[in-house]
Amino acid sequence: MIALLAALSVALFAVSAFAEQPSLAPSQTTVNVLAPKPDPKVIVGDIFATCCMPCHQGETPAAKLDLSKDKFEAALVNVASTEIDTLKLVDTANVRKSYLLMKLRADKRIRANPMPLRAPALESARINAVGVWITKLLNIAATKAASLGVPAVPLGEAAAPAPGAPTTEARKPPDSGGAANR
Ligand code: HEC
Repeated sequence: MIALLAALSVALFAVSAFAEQPSLAPSQTTVNVLAPKPDPKVIVGDIFATCCMPCHQGETPAAKLDLSKDKFEAALVNVASTEIDTLKLVDTANVRKSYLLMKLRADKRIRANPMPLRAPALESARINAVGVWITKLLNIAATKAASLGVPAVPLGEAAAPAPGAPTTEARKPPDSGGAANR
């Protein structure tokens, strides 16, 4: 028993010594890699619940858009924006034309205000998470289309790097992405 305790305290000492060295301390990323990969939809549901309430829920949600956990997918995916009805809130054929992402990134094509309203913009990690979720939907849509013998979404779109990344769009001259996708 004493031997066990001694061994334990040595081990604990080793762990704390290790953790105290910033360069060697396990990073957040390492921890995340070991954890089971969370479902992108769950992550996005949490982001909306944290950042978009209380406006987008209840009987009269802002912009008639209910982003509560059990409703956001049906409210967004391939649903036309009420502000620019030629664009879909989440466009599974073209991530970059998803109006939701434009609102989150304060894209200059949006009407009215960037989201979240009256709050700082979401951190890029959160916007990326929304992009990852949309990309996953896009891949599902492509697989379904392929199984029906319909040509899938343009390859350029599917292979585009990190659609949620603010850098990809922000650095481009206006409309170059749009023109390429037409
Ligand atoms: C303080 C209240 C408030 C918060 C918080 C808020 N919104 Fe909004 N949202 C609005 C209002 C009001 C509108 C309509 C006017 C506008 O666009 O500025 C709107 C419009 C939108 C639209 C456009 C809908 C359409 O059909 O075109 C989207 C997309 C949207 N919000 C997403 C979000 C997301 C995602 C979040 C959280 C990251 C969020 N909003 C947080 C109040 C809010």
